[in-house]
Amino acid sequence: MCGIIGYTGQRRAIPLLLQALKRLEYRGYDSAGIAIVEKGTLQVFRKKGKIKELEQELEGKEWVTSFGIGHTRWATHGIPSDHNAHPHCDCQKTIALVHNGIIENYKSLKEMLLREGHVFSSDTDTEVIAHLLEGEGSPKERLLRTVSLLEGSFALCILFTEEEGVLYGVRKSSPLILGVGEGEYFLSSDIPAFLEYTRSAVLLDDGEVVRVDRSGFTVFDFQGQAKDKKPITIPWDPVSAEKGGFKHFMLKEIHEEPRVFEDTLAGRIDFHKQTVALEELENLPFSSVRRVTIVACGTACHAGMLGKIYLETLARLPVAVEYASEFRYQEPLLQDTLVIAISQSGETADTLRAVELAREQGARILSVCNVLGSSLTRISDWVLYTRAGLEISVASTKAFLGQVTVLLLLSLFLGEKRGVLAPERQESLLRELLSLPRKMNQILKEEQSIHEIARQYYRHQNFFYLGRGLLYPLALEGALKLKEISYAYAEGLSAGEMKHGPIALVGPDLVSIVLVGEGERRIKMLGNIEEIRARQGKIIAVASENDTEVKEKVDFFIPIPPTSEFLSPLLAIIPLQLFAYYMALERGCDIDQPRNLAKSVTVE
Ligand code: AGP
Repeated sequence: MCGIIGYTGQRRAIPLLLQALKRLEYRGYDSAGIAIVEKGTLQVFRKKGKIKELEQELEGKEWVTSFGIGHTRWATHGIPSDHNAHPHCDCQKTIALVHNGIIENYKSLKEMLLREGHVFSSDTDTEVIAHLLEGEGSPKERLLRTVSLLEGSFALCILFTEEEGVLYGVRKSSPLILGVGEGEYFLSSDIPAFLEYTRSAVLLDDGEVVRVDRSGFTVFDFQGQAKDKKPITIPWDPVSAEKGGFKHFMLKEIHEEPRVFEDTLAGRIDFHKQTVALEELENLPFSSVRRVTIVACGTACHAGMLGKIYLETLARLPVAVEYASEFRYQEPLLQDTLVIAISQSGETADTLRAVELAREQGARILSVCNVLGSSLTRISDWVLYTRAGLEISVASTKAFLGQVTVLLLLSLFLGEKRGVLAPERQESLLRELLSLPRKMNQILKEEQSIHEIARQYYRHQNFFYLGRGLLYPLALEGALKLKEISYAYAEGLSAGEMKHGPIALVGPDLVSIVLVGEGERRIKMLGNIEEIRARQGKIIAVASENDTEVKEKVDFFIPIPPTSEFLSPLLAIIPLQLFAYYMALERGCDIDQPRNLAKSVTVE
């Protein structure tokens, strides 16, 4: 989705803004623009397409200003085009602003402004804000007056030519962060935009405005009342925003999974007592939790589906898993229910709205999140961080692994607290957990054989992913990964459902990725393999390296080191992610920024 950057300091603004916009590319966008004030005059450049188009537009410009704003736009109102790209300006070209979110009442505001004689140059909802900011009073007064008229969600970064070096930021239901450097400040929707300059940041809350110049910042609410805000230190390392020798962020992030797993466990297991210790949940009223509802979107929801099986089996709690976009329009019964919201970004609009609804219904919220201080973490009663570090590729990989790891830990923790988990089971799972990073690395070493399989099949257009039990959510996740980055059609199926309809599609052109576990469902999966073979379908199996019977029946075999059935998703996910990656590579796709997708989906 859209990305915001604003800068005031001593560095040259244009290269800095362009570099920051590149750091925001991973969010997904269709056009980009910047505005600077050079010798008191506003200069605005906007281009449809990639940032390099904007760079070309700016080539040869010698401006030295150290004050400006920039934006990557993901179209909502108005097609992707130069004139709809941000920044947008007032009639006199004295105000420029960039906006993330949607102004829901923009139509009525635009009608009012048109009646007053304002002339519009775009089809966006955003432009009304620039025109509303015209008029009498100081910039701050005009800003507060304007904000009181806006409905919807908005993160804004604004500059006025009459106040050189001053930026204003506004936050309502869309993230905005102030990066605090030495005599320089950054306003951005995303930490990576300024991480190479500072790790000190002020996380603005909804309903807050910040005014910042080169000497400092003040924060106030929408009524103009001052607020006391202190910077925090961002734990991410700037190097995490680099590809580190990998061709794509996605591949780098898949290779980080063993480390993410270890980091997510760190300090959360008491090896002496053989128990899980989650300090974050100290005051969680275990005895009053009777049910759990998990809300999430996309990949996070697939992690939630695994979490359901973990929680039901290990903690003996009934669990419902809901797409946040559906849940938020329901009338849920949430008495004695703990709502678990899962989100990598913590900014997904549907998940945030689902949590708001759950809160209104009196539920307590536990979030599983990757981004420190994100919106979700701030409306939750408890937070379990996934410690995956910065995830840049739009396709979520290591964050999924972190989410599943946290949900497993949570299930063990609740199982013990509720007295329903046999100590021997707990001990054996904890013991086995320790061997997983080594086994993950073993799978990663075999990535070239997965690349080879992708070379065989990259021209195919239709794929089934089949799994049962814990491997069913994984089938959904494998299919999602393939379609989002390679644009091949892929359907994740509960293997038992195949004969109830989807088998009609099986034939020589269809490739099935069959996920075979080691438990009681294995024999049924063998049945699925036979059914596909009988119809000349192609089969790639992901199964335990010891499963020679499966190996003999399929076209390609991806071995997984043996582990407890419960932990197998944490290993089997890696070849699925690698397969999607290499398929996309062979098909020549834009892997880290797939078409039409955005890293955090901040519109509903
Ligand atoms: C993952 O590969 C997807 N791009 C997408 O499904 C994502 O998981 C979903 O939008 C939820 O995002 P979140 O975890 O940041 O809430």
